[in-house]
This record gives sequence, C-alpha cells and structure tokens, in this order.
Amino acid sequence: MCIPRALIVPHLMHRILFAAALLAANAFAQTAAPEVAKPADAEAPASAPPASAPPATGAPKITFSQCHVEGPYIAMTFDDGPHGVNTPRLLDMLKQRGIKATFFMCGECVVQFPQLVKRMVDEGHEVANHSWSHPQLSKMGEEAVTDQLQRTHDAIKQACGVEPKVMRPPYGAFTVNQRSWANRKWGYKVILWDVDPLDWKVHNAEHVEHEILTHTVAGSIVLSHDIHKTTVDAMPATLDGLIAKGFKFVTVSELLAMDKPVPPKPKATPAPKATPSPKVTSTAKGDEAKPKTAAKTP
Ligand code: NI
Repeated sequence: MCIPRALIVPHLMHRILFAAALLAANAFAQTAAPEVAKPADAEAPASAPPASAPPATGAPKITFSQCHVEGPYIAMTFDDGPHGVNTPRLLDMLKQRGIKATFFMCGECVVQFPQLVKRMVDEGHEVANHSWSHPQLSKMGEEAVTDQLQRTHDAIKQACGVEPKVMRPPYGAFTVNQRSWANRKWGYKVILWDVDPLDWKVHNAEHVEHEILTHTVAGSIVLSHDIHKTTVDAMPATLDGLIAKGFKFVTVSELLAMDKPVPPKPKATPAPKATPSPKVTSTAKGDEAKPKTAAKTP
C-alpha cells in the first residue's frame, strides 16, 4: 500500500493525549485511512451540494458529482494508485474493451510506478491528481495543500508528459474556498462521484459489480479503487455489464465537456392528495439513495 499510515498514528497520539475521546475518534479515522475512510466518506455528500449548486451568474462550474449529458456516457474513475500489480491488470481489461478511464493518483505512488502512468496516457486514459499522500485536505492550510497538489501535479507531468486537468480530494473533503483556489491556481475541476460501490470497505467482487451496475446512469461518475484486487477482479463482469446496458465510456474531462445545463423542472404544482400506495418501498434502498441524491447535480 502506498500510504505510510504507521507514521501518522503515533504522531497524532502525541498531539492529542490530553483528550481521550478525541484520541479514540482520531485513532479510528487513522485506522480507516488507507482506504476511503468512513468519517470522511460521510463528509463527501455533505460537501457536494454547494458545489453542485448552480454557479453564480456567469461563473464557471468547478465541482462535478455527475454530469447531465445527452447520450449514455459515463466516466469510470480509479483512485489511490497506481498499484504495481492491480493497475496493469485493469489496464489490460480496459484495453481489451476499448474503454477509456480516468485515474486519480497519489503522487507517492506515481513516483513508484511512472511507467504505468505513461502507459495510461499511451492507451488514451486521463491522468488526474489525488494528492501526494492522501490526507484530508480540508483540514490543512494553503501551504500544505499546495505541497500535496503541486508535487503530485509535477510527478504526473514528469512521468507521462501530460499535466492533469482534474483533481479529486481524498474523501471528497475540500472546502468551497479550496475548490475555487485550486481552480484558479492549477485550472483544476474538482471531481466527486455519484456512484460509490464502497469497494474500499467491502472486498467482494460481486458486491462491487452489483453496486455499480445498479446505480450507474447516463452522466455518472463511477468511483472505485484500482489498488484493491477485488475491485479489479470485479471489472470484467462490471464493464461487460455496463456495455450490455448500452453505456459508452469517456474520460472525466470528456464527460465534463458534454455537460449541459439541467433543464428547469416543470412548475411544481401541488400534488393531488394521492391515496396512500399499498406498495411498501424498501427502506434499505431509500436510505442508500439519500446521500446519492444529495450529491447529484440538481
Ligand atoms: Ni482516495
């Protein structure tokens, strides 16, 4: 794994010895940190709505959780790599199917496997910035965030000759001010997601496949992680399933270029008092859908 968590925990514990409760909370957060951690994961939908809201008059949109496109276009995105074993396997699968994807990479992994970054570009994929070492950027100052993003930007450019145009903050955690600042500084669009198979948590290929096939719609930005074997194991069936549903794969920047303003909803007329439906809807599904709805472009 590319993230030296072990270094972080003792350091953190020194800082917060005085508060046992805080210590416990942070210990949990750090333990979960190698993957998309639960606390921060919960943060992602919360941070999405302001970004997904219509931009101020004339201001370009910076953050995207999904796009509104005419046609069955989607973007597959893979985070936290490259990984020495799983990423080449995934690249083979994508190549066999003529699928272009987007890789949000950590700088510290980029410098380990620059040849994989070069291969991505050679095979038509998009390379993107996911920070240097996967910290929670929203809690960091400008200088530290600059270091995380600039070093990764430079490492990607050094590896493949292409500068990233999009970034994804680890855990989706990036303040509104940081988004506009990163957009001004590097020209970055900030990319979240609307489909999350929780592949960092559930290491089960069938689960990953089922979640992605169930929730992907036209304009979706699908999140997953090419550092996990089970995620890559899920991909042949997942990709073939998406193809069978008629989806066409583009990179994130290509999807963004197709993004159209969402047409205004029909005037909300007070709904007639409907008789209560006898059909019982699944509460599990309803609960699942909540954060997704919140993260969607209105
Ligand atoms: Ni990540």
